[in-house]
Amino acid sequence: VYDLATVEQHARAIGSMKSLSRALYAIKANSHPGVLRCVAAAGLSFECVSRQEVERVRESVPGLDPDRILFTPNFAPRSEYEWALAEGVRLTVDNLYVLRAWPEMFRGRDLFVRIDTGQGHGHHQHVRTAGAHSKFGVPLFEAGELAAATDAAGARIVGLHAHTGSGHFDVPSWVETAKALAGVAEGLPSVDTLDLGGGLGVPDRPGRAPLDLAALDRALAAFREQHPRFQLWLEPGRFVVAAGGVLLARVTQLKGKGAFRYRGLATGMNSLIRPALYGAYHEIVNLTRLDEPAEHVFTIVGPICESGDVLGHDRLLPPSREGDVLLVANAGAYGSVMSSHYNLRPPAGEIT
Ligand code: LLP
Repeated sequence: VYDLATVEQHARAIGSMKSLSRALYAIKANSHPGVLRCVAAAGLSFECVSRQEVERVRESVPGLDPDRILFTPNFAPRSEYEWALAEGVRLTVDNLYVLRAWPEMFRGRDLFVRIDTGQGHGHHQHVRTAGAHSKFGVPLFEAGELAAATDAAGARIVGLHAHTGSGHFDVPSWVETAKALAGVAEGLPSVDTLDLGGGLGVPDRPGRAPLDLAALDRALAAFREQHPRFQLWLEPGRFVVAAGGVLLARVTQLKGKGAFRYRGLATGMNSLIRPALYGAYHEIVNLTRLDEPAEHVFTIVGPICESGDVLGHDRLLPPSREGDVLLVANAGAYGSVMSSHYNLRPPAGEIT
């Protein structure tokens, strides 16, 4: 269930950052059409990673200027690049291979290039997108070859891009990324934009401090003052939508086994895979018994045939019964978009 007022509030918070010339919402976090319309109305542009994501934006937000879409594919087939260029969306290349193997495609084009700054950040190894173990970006040691490769293709690099990881709170890291990109841009006079990617964290447990957006804005503004040549872009996904969505599911069965008290829900990792995939923490409350004291520690599981189908370990909750509605928080980002029909169980539907 999505609350568009919350999504709008977060989109506007990003949109009001004075240091940014453009904020692009990374639609991989949540591509529900209503969410996209809400984010577009708040003035944000879009970052997409597949043809299908670009098409989803265009269908959901009719009349959107194609210039407000940045397409950042990774290891996509040649045909997707050809399609994007024909459609007039901005394109990021993240590998010298595409420039060298398909140079004719890029003749006369303005491009963004994704750089691997070598410094990864994020809530889990799977979401740290820098360094040799990561498949993304042109590594710094190849940056010197960029000018020759784009010149040979007859293209112009107008922007440098980096996304170092997802779900972190480290304000200086975005400035470090900007500095690393500015270093690469020294050899590329046509670059006027630095896109610092996303990664803006959202607290997962009550009481944890939120990302200091004002501090990030100040730090980026200070960078801009020192480097007036560049405009700065940011591409948040999670920050815009995480808190605006919850997963609701009814309790199906109760079980006690040794020291464990299990409460089964009608849906699990087929709707929200983050706990199983990253050990991510999502707050869980019993909506049916909000006023009752939380007396017992439960393991909250789904109906999928995997031991890893656990939405929450050791959760203090009121004594929950069959039919109670449990709420899993922060499910607006990387929830439905990563859902599956595993075991042929349909994932939770989406409503706004
Ligand atoms: N830009 C690029 C190029 C990205 O690859 C990503 C995320 C973003 C922006 C947005 O990052 P965000 O602001 O949402 O952190 N499924 C994982 C997150 C994977 C993020 C992949 N790339 C999770 O559930 O934590």
